[in-house]
Amino acid sequence: MSDLEKFVQVLAQSINQQSLIKLVLSKYQGQESELQRLTIRPVLLRDAPHLSCLYHYKTHDITKNVALEDGTEHIKQLLNDFKNANLFTQEQELQLSISKKNKPLLLVKAANTTSSSVVTTHNREKQRLLELERDFWFDLGIVDANKQLIPAMSRKWKQINKFIEIFAKAIESANLDLTHESLHVVDFGAGKGYLTFAIHDYLVQVHQHSAHVTGIELRDTLVQLCNSAIQRCSLKGLQFYQGDVRSYHPAKTDVMIALHACDIATDYAIHTGIRLGASIIMCAPCCHKQLRPQMQSPTLLQPVLQHGVHLGQEAEMITDGLRALLLEASGYQTQVFEFVSLEHTSKNKMILAIKKQVSLSRKQQIMAQVQEIKAFYGIKEHCLETLLMDVN
Ligand SMILES: C[S@@+](CC[C@H](N)C(=O)[O-])C[C@H]1O[C@@H](n2cnc3c(N)ncnc32)[C@H](O)[C@@H]1O
Repeated sequence: MSDLEKFVQVLAQSINQQSLIKLVLSKYQGQESELQRLTIRPVLLRDAPHLSCLYHYKTHDITKNVALEDGTEHIKQLLNDFKNANLFTQEQELQLSISKKNKPLLLVKAANTTSSSVVTTHNREKQRLLELERDFWFDLGIVDANKQLIPAMSRKWKQINKFIEIFAKAIESANLDLTHESLHVVDFGAGKGYLTFAIHDYLVQVHQHSAHVTGIELRDTLVQLCNSAIQRCSLKGLQFYQGDVRSYHPAKTDVMIALHACDIATDYAIHTGIRLGASIIMCAPCCHKQLRPQMQSPTLLQPVLQHGVHLGQEAEMITDGLRALLLEASGYQTQVFEFVSLEHTSKNKMILAIKKQVSLSRKQQIMAQVQEIKAFYGIKEHCLETLLMDVN
C-alpha cells in the first residue's frame, strides 16, 4: 500500500468513526489562482453530519459543505491539487507531502492530547463538565457502542452541559455544606432523564460527593428505561419513580428541579421545594393556563391586550413574575433568565432561586406587591400562592 493509500485509509476511518478533528490541505497547485489553503472539519447541519470545507483565498474565505458519506471521495479528488495534507484525528496526526516528482511521503505521530477533542458543531467542542465516557449515555442514546457522540445528539449534549454549568454555579452560590451528608436532589418531570443522570454524574463523579438523585415522571415507559440504565450501569444513589409531581412528597430535598413540568405542576414542585427548605429551586415553566382566563385587561392596557397573543404573553410573564416574587417572599434570592433548554420549545425561561436570608419587612413588602399586581389584573388565584397559604 502506498503512503497516499495509507493516508486515505486513515482519513476514511476517521470520517466514518467520527474521530476526525480537522484536515488542512495546503501547497495548492490547481487552476484557481487565489486559492491558498483548505480546512475541513466535521459539522452538524440540521442534525445531519457533514464536512465543512473552508476555502482560504488571498482576500476572502468560502465555505462549502459536503455530506459525510461523500467526504472521502471528495477529499481524494482534492488531493490531486494540494501537495500537502495535515490530518488531525483523536488518535494521531498525519502529514502527507507530495514531492515535485509526485512521490508521496507520510509522517505519523500520536495525537497531541490537548487538541484531541472532536469538533462536531461549527464551534470547537469546549471543555465540558460532563464525560461522554460514562456507560449510561449509551442507554440514553447520546453515544454509540464505541462511546462516540452520535452526531444527531450533539446539540442535546451541548444543552445538557449548559444546564450543568448553571447547576454547578447554583451549587457554588448556595454555599451548601457538602462535607457530611448526601445531597438530595429531586427532578420533577424528568422525561428521559438526561438531566437527572447528568446531575447525578456531576455530583458523584466530578464533584466526588455522595448524592441521592430522584427523577419523578408521569410516563412509565421513560421511568422503566431510566431504571434499566441505572441497573445495567450499577449506579448507586439514583432512582426514578412513576408518578405525578402533585402527589409526590419526598421527605427531604436540597435541590428541587422542575424543567417543563406542565402548567401548575411547576407550582406544586416549587411548593414542595419551599416546604422542604430546599437550598436551590430551579424551574423552567411550561404552558401557563391558570391565569389567562382570570386576567381582566386594565383599561390603559386594553388596546394592547386585546390581541390574544399579547394577552398570552402577559399571562405568562405575570404567572412567572408572581412565582419569582413568592419565592423571594419565602426566603429565596431569585433570578429569571433565558437558557437553552433540551426541549424543542419556545419556553426557555428559567427561574433560579437560592435560599438566602430575607428580612420580615422585605417579605411583607413583596407580599403587598403580589396583592397589588393581582388586583391590577383582577387575578383571583395563583396556584403557588394558594399552596403556600396552606403551610404558613
Ligand atoms: C417536556 S419534558 C422535559 C423533560 C426534562 N425535564 C428536560 O427538561 O429534559 C416534560 C416531562 O414532564 C412530564 N410531566 C409533565 N407533567 C407532569 C406531572 N404533573 N408529573 C410528573 N411528570 C410530569 C412529562 O411526561 C414529560 O416527560
